[in-house]
Amino acid sequence: MIVSNTTLSRHGLASSHAVEAGGLSGRPLFARSTAVLARMRRRLGPEVVIVGVGGITSAETAAEKIRAGADLVQLYTGMIYDGPALPARVVRGLSAIVQREGVASIGALRDTALAKWEATPI
Ligand SMILES: Cc1cc2nc3c(=O)[nH]c(=O)nc-3n(C[C@H](O)[C@H](O)[C@H](O)COP(=O)(O)O)c2cc1C
Repeated sequence: MIVSNTTLSRHGLASSHAVEAGGLSGRPLFARSTAVLARMRRRLGPEVVIVGVGGITSAETAAEKIRAGADLVQLYTGMIYDGPALPARVVRGLSAIVQREGVASIGALRDTALAKWEATPI
């Protein structure tokens, strides 16, 4: 299951573009989509594969999706700002996070921040 897509919410946005119609993607979507992801992980249980999407711009935000319950991650808008080298940077950064946290693999981080993101208001 892919969680989630864009949002129609403009909550917290001060930009003049906030009045534009359509789905909002990228950095402003990160917290909201990650809070939805954690709720979906709780409801679906541990077996269903979840792809975490929304506002991933770095290895740290990719890792946070995994901590909130994602098995896999997807990004789109980050590439518009950072270019096609971003996925490789994220993968290298995830390797560094695995080493820093002293875990056997990135999967070991899954759900470690589930409670925090579940409690984050949508
Ligand atoms: C220009 C653009 C086109 C998109 N087209 C689709 C689409 O055809 N189907 C779809 O499911 N999601 C589409 N999305 C949503 C993305 O797949 C993704 O869910 C969303 O952008 C949030 O991720 P991001 O913050 O990494 O961009 C599109 C997003 C953008 C910005």
